Amino acid sequence: MELSGARLGKKVLEMQGVSKSFGDRTIINHFSFLFKPGDRIGIVGNNGSGKSTLLNILAGRESIDEGNLEKGQTVKIGYYTQESVDMDENLRMIEYIRETADSIALKDGSFISAAQMLERFLFPMGSHGTPIRKLSGGEKRRLYLLNILMSAPNVLLLDEPTNDLDTQTLTVLEDYLETFSGVVITVSHDRYFLDKTCHQLLVFKNKGDIDFYYGSYSEFLEEKTEEAEPVKAPEPQMNRTEKKKKKLTYAESKEWEEVEGNMERAELRLKDITSEMSAAGSDFEKVRLLLEEEKELTDKLDHLMERWTYLAEKLEEE
Ligand SMILES: Nc1ncnc2c1ncn2[C@@H]1O[C@H](COP(=O)(O)OP(=O)(O)O)[C@@H](O)[C@H]1O
Ligand SMILES: [Mg+2]
Repeated sequence: MELSGARLGKKVLEMQGVSKSFGDRTIINHFSFLFKPGDRIGIVGNNGSGKSTLLNILAGRESIDEGNLEKGQTVKIGYYTQESVDMDENLRMIEYIRETADSIALKDGSFISAAQMLERFLFPMGSHGTPIRKLSGGEKRRLYLLNILMSAPNVLLLDEPTNDLDTQTLTVLEDYLETFSGVVITVSHDRYFLDKTCHQLLVFKNKGDIDFYYGSYSEFLEEKTEEAEPVKAPEPQMNRTEKKKKKLTYAESKEWEEVEGNMERAELRLKDITSEMSAAGSDFEKVRLLLEEEKELTDKLDHLMERWTYLAEKLEEE
């Protein structure tokens, strides 16, 4: 599936010497950057460093104190924000999506309908008449995301999408973004998601300085640890050989396709938790939250590994 989306000129968004402060706190300090067609940019940095503010500026929702922001003529922004959004809770899912669009265009001239998009984003056909008020928090966020995609943006701003979307939805989103021809700018701490969706990074440092890094988030982290500790012991790797799909039910082969990615995602996050934990120092509340997350992830990883072993063994039976 290739999405068509409106054409983008050479210049998508250009920031020239942009500065932004809140009170006496500098969030962005004389920052210049040109966002070009096809760019996939991750934004990383500590909590409170200014990542959301940068997205708000790009989306025209936040003013700048100094400098200039230019926006290409054809730019149409879709913005998945961190805040909860107002939805008319009495609308049915399909009505809510259709208020934005009945369908979206693909590159080959065909269309994908609102109902097909809902299905693609894991809402089965029979559920489309459900009123929004009956959805769980996670389902509402998924619907909200889908609604943004239905508005056919050519610049997509994603603020911490991995915080409230489940891993299955993230897998669908990752696939979707692969066929998306527009610009994607993602704020996230999730290494797996960033690695999958971004080739370049903007890294928030202290006092509003932002570094550009050409490479994936994993490469960036690796370079950072190499600088800190040049000698690194090799990490034990599980041998996860490619196996052909045999004798698996439909649900199982879908599970097989996703299980390694999900394991990898959990493992990467666990590693990051370890470093976040040592950085948290005596911030006990943060440490407590990290420990909780670690426990949850370890359980999940155990379960995934069990499933992986089970499915792999089943595949080996000829
Ligand atoms: N509208 C605002 N008014 C005053 N301070 C704000 C406003 N928006 C954000 N801030 C402050 O600016 C800093 C950066 O916020 P934000 O961009 O949300 O950080 P991040 O997304 O990186 O966690 C924080 O200290 C936050 O409290
Ligand atoms: Mg934020």
